[in-house]
Amino acid sequence: MNEPVFWLDDKAIPFRDGQTVMTAVTAAGHYIPHLCHHPDLTPHGSCRLCIVQIDGRIRAACTTPAQANMKVTFDTTLLNQQRRQIVELLFAEGNHLCPSCEVSGNCQLQALAYDLGMTHSEFAPLYPQRETDGSHPDIFVDQDRCIFCELCTRSARELDQKNIFGISGRGSHTYLLAHSDSGKLGDTALTETDRAAHICPVGCLLPRNGNYQIPIGERLYDAQPIHIRGNHRPDDGEFTP
Ligand code: FES
Repeated sequence: MNEPVFWLDDKAIPFRDGQTVMTAVTAAGHYIPHLCHHPDLTPHGSCRLCIVQIDGRIRAACTTPAQANMKVTFDTTLLNQQRRQIVELLFAEGNHLCPSCEVSGNCQLQALAYDLGMTHSEFAPLYPQRETDGSHPDIFVDQDRCIFCELCTRSARELDQKNIFGISGRGSHTYLLAHSDSGKLGDTALTETDRAAHICPVGCLLPRNGNYQIPIGERLYDAQPIHIRGNHRPDDGEFTP
């Protein structure tokens, strides 16, 4: 029996029971911008970069189950503008100073900004001043680069079976916390080999060793745009488009 399909603009996308729009589109070799989605983790639906339009309504592709004959609108000027605004807002909410950032060229937020044609942010920068955490021997935490995608909290829980990270506070006072008596990452059970230690899509959780081995200009998204290269780094488990 033929697999059921839905439509992504004019492309027929086959899918299996249980797949979301995101997982089916990805399996078919196409790219939908995303930050909080990861193929190994429960969908979160928080970053809203994966917005598509279905029956006139804006939906998150990562949490919407695929259905036969559904018409999914993806590539429109308005949707691309909304995706770009989400990225602009993320830039304004954190201190994403790409030229001086260790993960420049490997950063998914930066790569999406290029991909979506962002040249500046329409939003006033907040310049947050959260505390940094250098207590862990292998991972440094720069809170002001956190985009609250919760990839680290979910991967620690779901893949490493550890309760390491959490999110607390509200609005511009939201922050990433470490679950230890001291509140320091160095006093948690996080190890350098945990998936959570390498899943950060930006430069918030930063490996303390090995940065700058590949020069800026020759990194992942310097070589290929994110819609070709995909979001997930080889050291972040399975690579997917
Ligand atoms: Fe769908 Fe973040 S990837 S909301």
